[in-house]
Amino acid sequence: MAIDLFSPTHLGAISLKNRMVMAPLTRSRAPKDTGVPQAMNVTYYEQRATAGLIVTEATPISAMGHGYPFLPGIYTDAQVAGWKKVTAAVHAKGGKIVLQLWHVGRISHPSLLPNNVLPVAPSAIKPAGQLYTYEGMVDFVEPRALEASELPGIIADYVHATQCALAAGFDGVEIHAANGYLLDQFLRDGSNKRTDNYGGSLENRTRFLLEVTKAIVEVAGADKVGIRLSPVNPFNDMTDSNPQALFNYVVSALNQFNLAYLHVIEGDVGGKAVAFDFAELRKLFKGAYMANLGYDKTRGNAAIASGHADVIAFGVPFIGNPDLVARYKIDAPLNVADANTFYGGAEQGYIDYPTL
Ligand code: PHB
Repeated sequence: MAIDLFSPTHLGAISLKNRMVMAPLTRSRAPKDTGVPQAMNVTYYEQRATAGLIVTEATPISAMGHGYPFLPGIYTDAQVAGWKKVTAAVHAKGGKIVLQLWHVGRISHPSLLPNNVLPVAPSAIKPAGQLYTYEGMVDFVEPRALEASELPGIIADYVHATQCALAAGFDGVEIHAANGYLLDQFLRDGSNKRTDNYGGSLENRTRFLLEVTKAIVEVAGADKVGIRLSPVNPFNDMTDSNPQALFNYVVSALNQFNLAYLHVIEGDVGGKAVAFDFAELRKLFKGAYMANLGYDKTRGNAAIASGHADVIAFGVPFIGNPDLVARYKIDAPLNVADANTFYGGAEQGYIDYPTL
């Protein structure tokens, strides 16, 4: 039988019953004061446990990692206890689940941070545009540039969050280095103008990501750690003068760790055409490759059959179709996810999509 979306595989130490991954999706449905996953969040993930792997919504590693309302966290005992119920429910249904570790860097606002402090970033460059806060849409602010001496503290936060994720029963962690958040801000020269060891050359801009990755790998084991990159996504005001050179370098450097997988957003989430050779990243990376962005069953199967990808991550289709795997298997029609209920609110548009 040919290998397709329904064939089992493994990503490092994580065995998957099929090659359909639920992509990380911010849903903003955790309590404002605690960030502790609730019964509704348990149900949401449990409903989707027939995916080969679930990557959780991006989850802040510290109070400073927050940049949207109603996010769950992974840095307090109560949050660990809440997530334990999620992992237990997914495991009871035969699923696998990794937690996505997130620090937003400059994509935040004092009103979302402890003591109303400024967001932090590699450089004091204000992103263009606005963000969603508890008080509605507001302009981004100019972030405070991190001192090099503060970086070990952020690495310690990543380590602590990884320990929390393991204690909560996750099968592994995914490092969020995509979409214009803190680690991506260090990588790209549009947001990183540092003149120390963490800015300038490719080696310098990649340094913080590699330090973070090394520290997480030491705690979790490389075979339980994946990483997500978005080489050409302009989301969150990101630019780079030479993304192909940068991300070829990043992926080659990541090979030193033997990570469980590389997860790549293959384009501009806004849908604009971009010149970038993702096959080069696939070829350079010496581990499993997870492709994401605009895939459906046909394109997913084609990418696996051609050897371009090992597994495919589906986002919006899993919002509207908790049983996406079963539907793809028999070519059943799909529910259309309602964009009005993607972020915030309660059960509606979250745990009430019908299964076959
Ligand atoms: C979002 O909440 O819009 C969001 C979060 C994390 C991402 C991308 C988008 O990586």
